Parts: sequence; C-alpha cells; structure tokens
Amino acid sequence: MYSPAATRYNKDFYRRSGRSGLRLPLLSLGLWHNFGGVDSYANARAIALRAFDLGITCFDLANNYGPPDGSAEETFGIILREDLAPWRDELIITTKAGYYMWPGPYGEWGSRKNLLASLDQSLKRMGLPYVDIFYSHRPDPDTPLEETMGALAHAVRSGKALYAGLSNYPPAQTARAAKILRELGTPCVIHQPRYSMLDRWVEPELLATLAAEGIGATVFSPLAKGLLTDRYFKGIPADSRIAKDQRFLRPEHVTDAVLGQTRKLNDLAQARGQTLAQMALAWVLRHPVVTSALIGASKVEQVDDCVGAVKNLNFSTEELALIETILAG
Ligand SMILES: NC(=O)c1ccc[n+]([C@@H]2O[C@H](COP(=O)([O-])OP(=O)(O)OC[C@H]3O[C@@H](n4cnc5c(N)ncnc54)[C@H](OP(=O)(O)O)[C@@H]3O)[C@@H](O)[C@H]2O)c1
Repeated sequence: MYSPAATRYNKDFYRRSGRSGLRLPLLSLGLWHNFGGVDSYANARAIALRAFDLGITCFDLANNYGPPDGSAEETFGIILREDLAPWRDELIITTKAGYYMWPGPYGEWGSRKNLLASLDQSLKRMGLPYVDIFYSHRPDPDTPLEETMGALAHAVRSGKALYAGLSNYPPAQTARAAKILRELGTPCVIHQPRYSMLDRWVEPELLATLAAEGIGATVFSPLAKGLLTDRYFKGIPADSRIAKDQRFLRPEHVTDAVLGQTRKLNDLAQARGQTLAQMALAWVLRHPVVTSALIGASKVEQVDDCVGAVKNLNFSTEELALIETILAG
C-alpha cells in the first residue's frame, strides 16, 4: 500500500500563482504522454507517486490526453482510487477542454456546450466530484469570449472546478478574458502557455500581460518535449518519445542546428553543476511570473533529475548572456 514520503514538503518549492491564494509547486507533472491506455500502468503509477513524494502536488490533464483520447484521465482515476485518494486535499488536479474530443459540432472549441459537457466527462473518467483548475484549452475564433468565459465561471460556481484557467491564449485576448472572468467573480488564476529556450513566443508581451493582470503562468514543454535534454545526443533512443509516438515530435526536429545549440547549452549546464534538463527548467523559472514549469516524464529517474533543478535556480549575468549567444547562433 502506498504511503507518501514524510519528507515531501519543502516550503521553498511553492510559488503563489499571480495574485491568487493558490500556491503551486515549481514543477508540475503533465500526463499528456506516458499515461495513456497504450502505456504501462505500472510505470505511469510509479512516475505519479514519485512526483508526489517529491512535493509535486499539481497533476495536469486534459480531456484528450492518451492515446486513446480520455485514457490519461482514466489512468489517473485509477491511481487516485488505488493510491492517492486519501491525499486528495493535497493535490491540484487540472483538466481542459477545447481540442477535438468527440464528433459533431459540440466536440471541440469554446462553446458553453463543449466546455461543460467535456468537464462532466472528465470528472466521470477520473471519478472526481471536482477538479482544482478547469482550463479553456485554446481560444476559439468563432465563439464569443463572453460565452467561453461564462462557461468557465459556471464550472467554478457549480463547484465542479475550484479555479478557472486559460491555455494558449494570446496577450490581448488574455487581458480581455481576464477582465470578463473578474467581472463574473471567478478570476483567472493561471495561464498555460508553451515556453522553453527553443520557443520564446511568450517573452515579448504575454508574460508582462500576465504580471499586470495578476495571473500566474504554468509553462508547458519547458524541455521542448525532450530536445532540451541529453536524450538525442547519440541518435534516437528506442525508448524516447520520437521513437514511440511521432504525433508531435519527429526525427526531423532533431536538426544539426538544434543539436549544436543543445550541446553548447549542455556544456554550460555542466559548468553550473546541472544537467541540461535542470538548467532548462531553472531558466524558465527565472521569471517571477512563471509559477510552475510543467514537465512530462517517461521514467521515474527523469522526475528525480528534474526536481534537482531547484537546487540552483540562479543565473549570473554572464551565464544569461552566454545562453542568449548560444540561442542566437
Ligand atoms: N496546454 C497545452 O496546449 C499543452 C500542450 C502540450 C503539453 N501540455 C502539458 O505540458 C506537459 C509537459 O509537456 P511535455 O511532455 O512536452 O514537456 P517536456 O518536459 O518539455 O518534455 C518531456 C519529455 O522530456 C524528456 N525528459 C523529461 N525529463 C527528462 C530528464 N530529466 N532527462 C532527460 N529527458 C527528460 C522525456 O522524453 P522521453 O519521453 O523521450 O523520455 C519526457 O517525456 C504535458 O504533459 C501536458 O500536461 C499542455
């Protein structure tokens, strides 16, 4: 029977999300990959429990995580039932709706119909009465923002979610959505954008918008799906994401240019006494507005390694300048 590590809490491992009362761990665990019906349940369970033992209280899901779609929520539901249920009040469980989930006009995007039906399905799959954060997974160009935000607010007011979040919204739309949610009395506590050394779209505007609105950021794919690690230095390992699932990361993404940059970054990480993964995580966490770095893991050891990042979150001016030079090259 599982019993969590007594050492799991260290107060320096949590950051307040924007101006909300919610504190999140510096690292959150995402269940996008490695938790589907096609994956090993024993491995998924071991990763989730190790994460919780290390103080990772936030588990990030979405309706469509798998494959097949929905199966990551089912897997997490079993882990909850069999192991984590006694600690439910120590967990932040998130889910999202907006990407394609079921056929017909209501199975995706941002209508009230899609969001609220999807949330009910997610709760059923996980066996939960409520999630902690419910996200609009992506902006919908056709549905009025008032309708999508109204659905998030309704989810919160009905007790099926404790907080509302946005994912993949651009800066101006984020500000408008935040205003609507504030007026509805259910403020947006968190935004979930993609951010890593290899993908910096949030830097020119979004991070400042979030700071001004008092919204935290939980940034996804901070390791660029594995590219910002030593994973691909010697080819494509058989147990890597590229070898197992080429939907989002493919061999052609491991270019000579990327390898040139990541090898140089790896040298710097070693000089800092870190792995490349650890330095990549510390780098996104250097912004105070970034509440949490949302990682994925295919092995327990990767969770251990990633959590080690917090031993050195500081960068000298020279180190930051060197990273800029490497990334510009
Ligand atoms: N809101 C959205 O639209 C959205 C979109 C994408 C993701 N997300 C969320 O973000 C989460 C994380 O995304 P991601 O999995 O792309 O994140 P990531 O942390 O950038 O990549 C995770 C991958 O990096 C490798 N890795 C992790 N730690 C490592 C270590 N210490 N050493 C070497 N390799 C390591 C593993 O690759 P291998 O599998 O090859 O071992 C792992 O699967 C998702 O699970 C999901 O919750 C949200």
